[in-house]
Amino acid sequence: MFTVAQETADDWWEVEALYDLCFALGREALSSYRLRDGVDPVADLSLMARDGEGILAAAIRYWPVTVGTANALLLGPIAVHPTHQGEGLGRMLIEDSLARAVETGWARVMLVGDALYYQKFGFEKLRGVEMPPPTNPDRVLGRDLLENAWTGVCGQVRSVL
Ligand SMILES: CC(C)(COP(=O)(O)OP(=O)(O)OC[C@H]1O[C@@H](n2cnc3c(N)ncnc32)[C@H](O)[C@@H]1OP(=O)(O)O)[C@@H](O)C(=O)NCCC(=O)NCCS
Repeated sequence: MFTVAQETADDWWEVEALYDLCFALGREALSSYRLRDGVDPVADLSLMARDGEGILAAAIRYWPVTVGTANALLLGPIAVHPTHQGEGLGRMLIEDSLARAVETGWARVMLVGDALYYQKFGFEKLRGVEMPPPTNPDRVLGRDLLENAWTGVCGQVRSVL
């Protein structure tokens, strides 16, 4: 049995440790991290799942970014502890957080990731949306939260700073 809650400031380093465990060394060199430097995550969408003993099993964070002149959510990182992968926790956190994003008025969400995984959640390749290099354009994916919200949105993805 897992409990989902918003991440708080006290949880920060525990979530960082989970990301360190789940991603390759040097994850913070990825270009998506440059969009996060100095910016707070979107607190009400950054969620954690803990098991019945309170041990952190999965976490997802979001950051605000701009694409051209539009606002967007940047999904990630998301990670599930290796002992709980394949149990549906990733799906649960993505679906729960995206439902909250719709409720709180976000129009569009993007990420850099594996299309095979994220297409399960309605993400498709974004054309004309440029992440800071080096980023493989095939991994730049997006999903409307409001109908047609990505239509006509293009340009460089920038930090909100
Ligand atoms: C990728 C990750 C977040 C998925 O979470 P998870 O809880 O293991 O996945 P779920 O059990 O919710 O699986 C949901 C669906 O995705 C599929 N899936 C899981 N991992 C996948 C992967 N790496 N590639 C493609 N599909 C995958 C599952 O088969 C399932 O499909 P179904 O609903 O059609 O049966 C998790 O495995 C993880 O933390 N991996 C290491 C860190 C990472 O790569 N993060 C993502 C960065 S882009």
